[in-house]
Amino acid sequence: MSGRTVAIVGASGAVGQDFLTVLAARALPVRRLRLFASPRSAGQRLTFRGESLPIEPLGADSFAGVELALFSAGAAVSREHAPRAVAAGAVVVDNSSAFRMDPAVPLVVPEVNPEALRGHRGIVANPNCSTILLVLALWPLHRAAGLRAVVVSTYQAASGAGQQAMLELREATAAALRGERLPPRVLPQTLAFNLFPQVDVFQPDGYTREEDKLQFETRKILGLPALPVDATCVRVPVERCHSEAVAVQLERPLDAAAARALLAAAPGLELVDDPAAKRYPMPLEMAGRDPVAVGRIRSGRVFAPGLTFWLAGDQLRKGAALNAVQIAELL
Ligand SMILES: NC(=O)c1ccc[n+]([C@@H]2O[C@H](COP(=O)([O-])OP(=O)(O)OC[C@H]3O[C@@H](n4cnc5c(N)ncnc54)[C@H](OP(=O)(O)O)[C@@H]3O)[C@@H](O)[C@H]2O)c1
Repeated sequence: MSGRTVAIVGASGAVGQDFLTVLAARALPVRRLRLFASPRSAGQRLTFRGESLPIEPLGADSFAGVELALFSAGAAVSREHAPRAVAAGAVVVDNSSAFRMDPAVPLVVPEVNPEALRGHRGIVANPNCSTILLVLALWPLHRAAGLRAVVVSTYQAASGAGQQAMLELREATAAALRGERLPPRVLPQTLAFNLFPQVDVFQPDGYTREEDKLQFETRKILGLPALPVDATCVRVPVERCHSEAVAVQLERPLDAAAARALLAAAPGLELVDDPAAKRYPMPLEMAGRDPVAVGRIRSGRVFAPGLTFWLAGDQLRKGAALNAVQIAELL
C-alpha cells in the first residue's frame, strides 16, 4: 500500500471541505484519510473519493499513525494540537494564524518562496488568504522591477469568515428581500446589501488584525522586512472569492504591457485583462478555480514608477486548501 495517512483537522468547516475537494483532485498519494472536528460534528460523515468517512472528535490521542496533518480549525486549536501532532510524528501544515510570524516556522506560498520549507521543524504555516492572493501577483513584479511600497484594498467574501458567516449572508439576504433586517450573528455587521471596513479586530493604531497580516506576512514571504504595505480590508456581500485593488510603487519603470506579459507567464496567475470586452477578474468567475486572476493593469497615477491593478481568487482554494496541499506536495 502506498501513500500517506493524512488528517484534516476542522474537516466540517469551510476550508476543511475544500481540503477534501482539493485532495481528491490532486496527485498527493493518500492511503488513509482521517477527519477531525469538534464534538459538535462528531459522527457526521463526509465523502472522499467516493468513500463515506466519519468525522471524529479531536482529542489528545488523535494523531497516532498520522504522517501529514492539515489544520484549519482556528488558532487556539492549532496552538493546542499541532505540537501534539508533531510529537506523534506528523508534519503539520497549519491554516491558522497561530505560528505564521514565528521566525522558526516557514510561511510558504509554493510559487514564491518554496526554499523557506528547508529546515522546517514539523510545522509549516499557510499564510492568510488575502496575503496569498496578493503575493502571487507581487512576486513577479518585484523580481522584474523591485517593490518599494504596496497599497491594497481588499473586497473579502463572507466565506472568509467561515461556514457560519456564509450562512448568515444567505439568511440576511433572504430576510432583506422580505423587507426584514436580521441582526448579525457571526459577522460584526449585517452584510446583506451592505459592506463594512472591518475584517478581524481593531488594533490600537486603528488598523485591523487582517490589515496587519497583509503587511507582516507579505514582508516575511517576500523576504522584504521593511516593505511598507498599507491595507484596508473590507467585507463585501460575496459568497466566495476575495478581490483586491492594488497600487505598487516600484524601484524601476515597468510599463503596463510588460507587467501584463510578466503576470500572464507567472505560475498560479491567470491574466484576465481586456476591459474593452468587459473582461476583468470577478469573484463569480473564480469560485472553485485554482488560479488567481489579475487584470485592470495600468500605469499608476500616484506612484512613479508604479502600477495599479485588480485581482480576484478563490480564498478557500488557493487562499487556503490548495496552497496547503501544494506545500504538502513539496514536503
Ligand atoms: N475561510 C477562509 O477563507 C480561510 C482562509 C484561510 C485560512 N482560514 C483559516 O482556517 C481556519 C478555519 O476557517 P474556516 O473558515 O474553515 O472556519 P469554519 O467554517 O468556522 O470551520 C471551523 C472548523 O474548525 C472546527 N473546530 C472548531 N473548534 C474546534 C475544536 N475545539 N476542536 C476541533 N475542531 C474544532 C469546526 O468544527 P465544528 O464544525 O464541529 O464546529 C470546523 O470544522 C481558521 O483558522 C481560519 O482563519 C480560513
